[in-house]
Amino acid sequence: MCGIVGAIGSLDFRSYLLNGLHKLEYRGYDSCGVYISNGKNHGLYKSIGTVDSLESKVPLNLSFNPHVGIAHTRWATHGGVTLSNCHPVYSSDHRIMLVHNGVIENFESIRNFLIEKGISFSGNTDSEVIANLLSFILSIDNSMTKAIERMMQELNGSYALAIIDTYDTNKLYFAKNLSPLLIGKGEGANYLASDQIPMADITHEFIDLKDGQYGYMSKDDIHLFQNGEEISFEFVSRSSENLDVSLNGYEHYMLKEIEETPSCIERLIKNYIFRKKYTFDKKLLRVIERSTEIIFLACGTSYHASLVAVDILRARGKIANAYIASEFAYHPVIMTDNPLFIIISQSGETADIIKCLPFITDNAYHLLTITNNRYSSLARKAEYYLNLYSGVEVSVASTKVYQSELVLLLMLFDAIYMDLNLIESLNKELLVLKDIINRKEEIKPIAKELANYEHCFILGRGLDYDSALEAALKIKEVTYIHASAVQAGELKHGPIALVSQDFPSLAFISEEKTAHQMRNGFQEVKARGGKVFVISSKSLAEENDSFVVLDSTIYLAPMAKVMVAQYLTYFITLEKGFNVDKPRNLAKSVTVE
Ligand code: AGP
Repeated sequence: MCGIVGAIGSLDFRSYLLNGLHKLEYRGYDSCGVYISNGKNHGLYKSIGTVDSLESKVPLNLSFNPHVGIAHTRWATHGGVTLSNCHPVYSSDHRIMLVHNGVIENFESIRNFLIEKGISFSGNTDSEVIANLLSFILSIDNSMTKAIERMMQELNGSYALAIIDTYDTNKLYFAKNLSPLLIGKGEGANYLASDQIPMADITHEFIDLKDGQYGYMSKDDIHLFQNGEEISFEFVSRSSENLDVSLNGYEHYMLKEIEETPSCIERLIKNYIFRKKYTFDKKLLRVIERSTEIIFLACGTSYHASLVAVDILRARGKIANAYIASEFAYHPVIMTDNPLFIIISQSGETADIIKCLPFITDNAYHLLTITNNRYSSLARKAEYYLNLYSGVEVSVASTKVYQSELVLLLMLFDAIYMDLNLIESLNKELLVLKDIINRKEEIKPIAKELANYEHCFILGRGLDYDSALEAALKIKEVTYIHASAVQAGELKHGPIALVSQDFPSLAFISEEKTAHQMRNGFQEVKARGGKVFVISSKSLAEENDSFVVLDSTIYLAPMAKVMVAQYLTYFITLEKGFNVDKPRNLAKSVTVE
């Protein structure tokens, strides 16, 4: 997934475009670039890597005063991470400059057609095909809006496009299909970006483009088209609350966001509980009660949060299942006749989940969507919607959102079953989390040791296995240590073959009923030279455990154990000198399948 940003009019383009890219780097950071022009002079600056590396290439004092500019930060889908594949890309006649977020499914056939017409390519991206297709259409009919409409008829796939026609730089063109694109209304200038954040300090008036819409903006006005006709539009106001992307004195977003977890839980309590009563939509609660099954669809961390909810629901006799969205999209499962689907997605833009929507809507199944962005694609398509109120999560590895998703799900089910005593348990859990934050320095020695290994197991049973899955993802995706979650009882059925002095284990103990078996298992590991780092709840702790957390109400235990794993991930990564907030090969929101 990529981030695009653009503007036209009177503004400090260097500052707006580079700051905008910094704020969009959570969408990808393989490479980045800027194009600016005043019609006579122009500048094209590109860099492999993060925006920091691009800053030094864009002159602090430009030799001309641009009035239009576009910029892009890339997460490579088609074509390697090379300067020729770095956006902004341009047509072979250098007429069209554009930036693109999305994936064009039929780019190869279009590319072959254009090559047959004698058009050359400098890179191998689908985005460059768009630029050359548009330029080719313009060579037949020189009307830009008609050419864009014609281009959209040819393209299959997702795109958010910002386009500059270098023959007329007094307009900034745009087009949108499946990938998000927001237009922002300014004074003496107009703006666009993949989301609100780059424009939050400039305007609160936006046009949230819908699929199939396209048009252009000048410094004074905006024109919107759909199906060849100009259409009217209204600006919608969006507050910039919860869009704080400052580090607030922290060295890294990951540490900041781990330590925001308690305030996220407090915001959920504030937004969904009033005078000790839940404020959920009564219709939604009835739909949940009447459903014959709850089916969670999610990916990554959000999927791991839903596993805990599945365990809680099943313990109350409710049929519940969680599926990885990318699997469900192609391999639907046998289900009961009246399921409620619950989609969980921090970004609300995950393509693997969007792929599942037609199955749900075509069968008229009920759908609840939970995201951290109420303006996201998934939120906009929801039948019922709940916001996570977690604030922007910038670090690519999800932390505070895991606990937020878990708590919101438990609140929802507590509103029905009313047997979790959740409100009291949450206030107690806040103390558990704050205790871990206060004692985080004690986690560093464990991290220092674990940093020396290339592989490790994360062991758990029951809810602790749910925590182990999330812990393994965190450690894998940020420290690059190959961490695997194993149901502790399964170790002796095969995985223990890997245990050696070079292959340690991290283990969670939160449940009394399995604590004894867990510790027996550790003996089997130690007998084979494997080190075991035990993260235990206080009432189950033993002398040599590596880190002990205060007791949680059992179904909240993953909150604390996963926070310890998040800190471990953070400290191991610092120890190894890797990029905490932008791990290699990843993007914060995966809007491609
Ligand atoms: C989380 O640490 C990962 N970076 C990733 O697995 C993420 O949870 C997954 O891509 C789902 O994202 P979403 O919640 O925005 O849908």
